Amino acid sequence: MSHQFAEIMFTEDVKSAQEEYGSRERLERFTSMAGPNDALGEREAAFIAQRDSFYLATVNKDGWPYVQHRGGPPGFLRVLGSQRMAYPDFRGNTQLVSVGNLSSNDRVSLILMDYPNRRRLKVLGHMRVENAYAVPEEDLTAVALPGYTAQVERVVYIDVAAFDWNCPQYITQRYTESEWAEIEASSHGEQS
Ligand SMILES: Cc1cc2nc3c(=O)[nH]c(=O)nc-3n(C[C@H](O)[C@H](O)[C@H](O)COP(=O)(O)O)c2cc1C
Repeated sequence: MSHQFAEIMFTEDVKSAQEEYGSRERLERFTSMAGPNDALGEREAAFIAQRDSFYLATVNKDGWPYVQHRGGPPGFLRVLGSQRMAYPDFRGNTQLVSVGNLSSNDRVSLILMDYPNRRRLKVLGHMRVENAYAVPEEDLTAVALPGYTAQVERVVYIDVAAFDWNCPQYITQRYTESEWAEIEASSHGEQS
């Protein structure tokens, strides 16, 4: 099977642009040789388990893309299987743009960043939202965030269609306070 991310993303319009700017042949070779990248493996699951945020693009009824930032404790985007992820949406979210957009288009795009290691993962999928009372107990347990008092009102499922790792160029290294504290602590340890 060819590379599913490219299969989905290289539409006729994209292929025409590649043709025009001279990259079509190289990318066709990549599409047919790499992949399939249609199911998360151990590497992707481990990467996702460490992320404390991701960007989520949905598409509205009029074709406008909408990008939302989601944050939480590391691993709050749970990998439930090689082709399924889920996260909680809480009571009190009144805007519901991402949630509402799914009614006419369930296609989503995620980008997950690892700034310290200059890595990024893109995921394409189909998203659906279920009321918390209607989902299996094990899924509710899986998405529950320890120490969170907010009530999980919805569980958001993402069925993975394809993923792609991107090149590290142009990713500036950035650290959270706790990542930086760890680095400092280990460098002090080395000095003593
Ligand atoms: C009680 C409560 C808890 C929330 N928790 C989170 C959270 O953990 N992470 C987050 O990114 N946004 C959180 N939000 C903000 C929005 O609910 C969140 O950005 C949501 O994705 C917006 O949904 P939409 O994209 O469908 O409009 C919270 C909001 C409320 C009211």
